[in-house]
Amino acid sequence: MKSLAVFLCLGFVFVSSASVLNTKEWTKLILTHHWPPTFCSMEKCHSNISYWALHGLWPDSGNECNSSWHFNASLIEDLMPEMKTYWPDLLKPNSTIFWKHEWLKHGTCAAKAEVLNSQHKYFSKALELYHKLDLDGVLKKSNILPSEDPYKFADVEQSIVNAYGVKPKIQCISHDKEAEVQTMGQIEVCFDKQFQLIDCEKRMEELQNNTGFMVCDESVPVYYPPTASTRLLQKFL
Ligand SMILES: *[C@@H]1O[C@H](CO)[C@@H](O)[C@H](O)[C@H]1NC(C)=O
Ligand SMILES: *[C@@H]1O[C@H](CO)[C@@H](O)[C@H](O)[C@H]1NC(C)=O
Ligand SMILES: *[C@@H]1O[C@H](CO)[C@@H](O)[C@H](O)[C@H]1NC(C)=O
Ligand SMILES: *[C@@H]1O[C@H](CO)[C@@H](O)[C@H](O)[C@H]1NC(C)=O
Ligand SMILES: *[C@@H]1O[C@H](CO)[C@@H](O)[C@H](O)[C@H]1NC(C)=O
Repeated sequence: MKSLAVFLCLGFVFVSSASVLNTKEWTKLILTHHWPPTFCSMEKCHSNISYWALHGLWPDSGNECNSSWHFNASLIEDLMPEMKTYWPDLLKPNSTIFWKHEWLKHGTCAAKAEVLNSQHKYFSKALELYHKLDLDGVLKKSNILPSEDPYKFADVEQSIVNAYGVKPKIQCISHDKEAEVQTMGQIEVCFDKQFQLIDCEKRMEELQNNTGFMVCDESVPVYYPPTASTRLLQKFL
């Protein structure tokens, strides 16, 4: 009897702390970009996209916060042309599955704040931040271009720091210790609740640890792979 009471008590503590976690509002947002050639080399998809595409807008707190808030593509019909270009589903180009996934996993958590409390607000804010950052333009301006020759990690990072004044989180495909280069695949830029840029912290790790990426090793040169089509072109030039 006594152990049952303890068990029930523990159960209560567990349930209540879980619901506290679940109602906690986020304090930071992570805008995640991915590089389609790298993504497709991991996922075996085909993409000729040669700009940094949006992956998602992720709050620092919560996952799948409201399962009853279904994704409804017709609510963002007006954003579709932009979504298809800048936030493409690299696996299933003609579907809305990717956006549905991002909404259910991250959007329903972002929606705890009034500024993002609808599907239209969430997706349009992500696109707005993406355009404002213009990560692709930033890298090009610093002459960090896809190339068969690897870059120093510091050169890639510095070009972003110079443009935004904050530290991004640059992720590479996880590699073994002896690797001579690492392939860059994802770049995160972080915002506070007022959408002001802030440094990304490495402790945000746990959140997005399921994509085969890890923070790039600062001591290993970075490979920024060209698209398959430019790689082919370079061969003939
Ligand atoms: C990519 O491929 C699509 C369809 O195959 C084509 O319409 C588009 O122009 C291509 N884009 C580039 C940058 O080559
Ligand atoms: C969950 O989603 C429903 C819509 O399906 C909405 O009415 C409700 O307010 C949401 N709850 C929270 C806590 O966001
Ligand atoms: C999706 O949103 C549209 C526009 O608001 C609405 O007419 C439609 O009923 C919604 N569909 C579902 C399945 O909720
Ligand atoms: C996507 O849809 C367009 C027409 O809407 C079609 O031409 C194309 O083949 C489709 N692509 C895929 C990968 O299904
Ligand atoms: C991924 O998560 C596991 C456990 O949650 C952790 O031990 C590991 O360090 C994480 N890896 C990276 C690259 O963040």
